[in-house]
Amino acid sequence: MSTAIQVNKPEPITNGKQVVVFDNDTDVKKTIRTLEAGKPIVISGFYSNGLVLLKALKVHLDRKLPNESFQEQRAYRAAYHTLSNRILIEIEDHKIALKKAPFIGWLEKLYPEMSDFVLPFPQVQGLNSSWQWYKNGVKIPVLRNKIHPYYGTYFPTRFDHLILFDNWLKRYEGPKKKAVDVGVGSGILSLQLVKHGFQKVFGTDINPNAIVGLTAFMGDTKLSRKIELDHAPLFGKYDKPVELIVFNPPWLPKTSKEDDVDEAIYYDENLFPDFFEAATQRLLPEGQLVILFSNLSEITNPKAIHPIEKELSEGGRFQLERCFKKKVRKASTETKRDQHWRVSEEVELWVLTHK
Ligand SMILES: C[S@@+](CC[C@H](N)C(=O)[O-])C[C@H]1O[C@@H](n2cnc3c(N)ncnc32)[C@H](O)[C@@H]1O
Repeated sequence: MSTAIQVNKPEPITNGKQVVVFDNDTDVKKTIRTLEAGKPIVISGFYSNGLVLLKALKVHLDRKLPNESFQEQRAYRAAYHTLSNRILIEIEDHKIALKKAPFIGWLEKLYPEMSDFVLPFPQVQGLNSSWQWYKNGVKIPVLRNKIHPYYGTYFPTRFDHLILFDNWLKRYEGPKKKAVDVGVGSGILSLQLVKHGFQKVFGTDINPNAIVGLTAFMGDTKLSRKIELDHAPLFGKYDKPVELIVFNPPWLPKTSKEDDVDEAIYYDENLFPDFFEAATQRLLPEGQLVILFSNLSEITNPKAIHPIEKELSEGGRFQLERCFKKKVRKASTETKRDQHWRVSEEVELWVLTHK
């Protein structure tokens, strides 16, 4: 079943041994010229040599490329992405083959069939920070236990919407037999549903890592009998109507034409119409549809269309039962630039019922 699902992971580079080496004696400028010529560089000696080279690459691009306008920033990021991904690291026996390198358990978990390979340094950095989150866990205020987000899976770093959902669940008086959690991610909403007494939750996600990660997290515990998962869009194989459907969708519309935008954050124009159409068929007559959302998109773009308001006014399928809003608490670490709009940021919990 879920063990057959292929997870997303950084693609190993297998085309032979790389010859151009960078260590603490190598000339940085020459190395950057090599990268610009399209040739890969392998880091040697200490892990920190890779960090030194990345930093030098930033300084080099700062001097070379403008980085002001939207277009310029995009071009800068693209150049940095291309060049930095030519900086490679060798993995031997599932470990980074460098001195003073961090231990990254993902190298064994994600590549069971391969012990020696090569990865781009920025990807290794991503694996490293993900491993820290996974190993240490993330404390979520509405849950007793920490969650351990799997590599490449969305997890929340702010919790106001989860508190809103928890308060709603405290007052929920309907039946608690079955619910669907569309876009289950690292499983927080499903865990909240179970905590509040739901007997069975069906979770779906288009991200294979979310499904594989949550399956592994639940293991053989009681939870694994309460939360059932399907790697599929929207409702997947769950087509029998239920009394509660919850969805914490991406909160921002896709604007760029880039392909690889994060589908936990950005939605395409079909997501909401398709979701509402499928939801009408899978909600019991007295059932409730709960959607977590935010005014993030409206704050940054006054012309933004609110997909739930649009459904209510044009869809003809659902009516508004309640909408709860909660101001987002400011995080102390955020920059001043972010704060000016965060002042008015609110999360929303929409309760819809059949018309
Ligand atoms: C904002 S995250 C929410 C995750 C989790 N429910 C939570 O509240 O922490 C949105 C999730 O929806 C998933 N997703 C996006 N489009 C989807 C679709 N069409 N069908 C199923 N899942 C989808 C993403 O992969 C992501 O895991």
